[in-house]
Amino acid sequence: MEKRVFIKTFGCQMNVYDSTKMLSLLRPLGYTETETAADADLMLLNTCHIREKAAEKVYSDLGRLRDLRLKREKIGKATLIGVTGCVAQAEQDEVTRRAPYVDVVLGPQSYHRLPELVAAAEEKHTGKRPNLIAADFTPESKFDQLPMAGSKQGSSAFLTIQEGCDKFCTFCVVPYTRGAEYSRTAAAVLEEARILIAEGAVEITLLGQNVNAYHGLAADGTSWGLAQLLHAVAALPGLQRLRYTTSHPRDVDTALIEAHRDILILQPLLHLPVQSGADKILSAMNRKHTAAEYLDTIAALRRARPDIAFSSDFIVGYPGETDADFEATLELVRLVEFVGAYSFKYSPRPGTPAAELAATSVPEAIKDARLAALQELLQKQQYSFNQRALGTEQEVLFSDTERSDGMLFGKTAYLQSVIVEAPARLRGRIERVHIEHAGTNSLKGRLIINEEPLAA
Ligand code: SAH
Ligand code: SF4
Ligand code: F3S
Repeated sequence: MEKRVFIKTFGCQMNVYDSTKMLSLLRPLGYTETETAADADLMLLNTCHIREKAAEKVYSDLGRLRDLRLKREKIGKATLIGVTGCVAQAEQDEVTRRAPYVDVVLGPQSYHRLPELVAAAEEKHTGKRPNLIAADFTPESKFDQLPMAGSKQGSSAFLTIQEGCDKFCTFCVVPYTRGAEYSRTAAAVLEEARILIAEGAVEITLLGQNVNAYHGLAADGTSWGLAQLLHAVAALPGLQRLRYTTSHPRDVDTALIEAHRDILILQPLLHLPVQSGADKILSAMNRKHTAAEYLDTIAALRRARPDIAFSSDFIVGYPGETDADFEATLELVRLVEFVGAYSFKYSPRPGTPAAELAATSVPEAIKDARLAALQELLQKQQYSFNQRALGTEQEVLFSDTERSDGMLFGKTAYLQSVIVEAPARLRGRIERVHIEHAGTNSLKGRLIINEEPLAA
């Protein structure tokens, strides 16, 4: 019988990638994806633990899924509910305590066990529901056992090359939820990249919580850094755009800077989280670099690739952050001129060193004010970057789906969103677009050439 699975994905791109893997794993069990939770025989929340808000959202969503399950029960339909991702890893016990009706709890290192647990849960489906939990740290077996083919990612695909983190920034849960740093072999990455291209990818984004700490075993027995891997992936026929995320400023080495100079399809946008512009705060966060070193790295990358632009992540209100420290962050932002950014109020996370620093915590109202000031500056920079695109010609990768108004939606090399009137057959292709309108969050443009005959 055909069954349906609904997955709601929170958090970072690695979760998005993992969700595609889970769908591939579930297909042989007869599951096809649905976007409507109420239609689903299996409902999964692929969760994020990075900030309190994200983690708490899971419990309210679970309540909603339980209501849906009760409704379905009344019409004689059974439903399984599962929690995967970083909350499942970090709070297994709390999930089963606060939501005892959950059938499956699965940490990110155990996704290869999904089919087995779902099958077991289907069996036990009546009567009392024992939660089936898997939360081991075995990245090797995970990647060896996840299917490479059939992830249905389309023209723009994610590819996880590295997982986990050994950096232990004082505010961050990732080393606890994703475990120690682990790099896949170069051969495995290249094989998966070839498959993604064969399945239609023209753009690949290599992923890792710490992607430029990559050090994977290569066929010649040596260990490759990210730069070597980028060269090898870029050489695969058919690939037109290459990106990687998220990198740590500390691990940007000379080889990586030169890769930005030498690899033409490496896109001229780098997401390089800095968190703060104050050395005192950077040190307290255990980031192990100064603001000046960050600026030097940016300068070196600009020398190597003059058209490169930067985006970043920021945390405001880290314990002990003074007005002067925050001013240093604004100053750094003014110096770099970011074209996009994510900024957050510091959120104390259980088990992290910074969560012990309540005595020097920054009042909520001050955090709010700093966040608003920072976001205003970042948005101005994003707007002026978008304005500079006005009247220029940009290469745009059109997404695989058509908008309801019949327009196509796409992304420039700098990941600016562009809306263009274009025929549906250009979905998933890169075309030249003349930019005619630029707002803070998106651009509008006109298709430039269309040399091919219109007939399908
Ligand atoms: N590996 C990346 C970050 C991964 S987490 C890096 O080293 O930069 C994504 C972002 O979430 C971080 O860059 C940070 O800005 C934010 N973040 C992480 N923990 C947080 C916390 N406790 N409170 C607020 N924001 C946090
Ligand atoms: Fe978290 Fe720091 Fe590791 Fe990034 S580098 S994932 S912020 S511990
Ligand atoms: Fe969130 Fe886990 Fe990613 S905590 S940001 S989903 S690694």
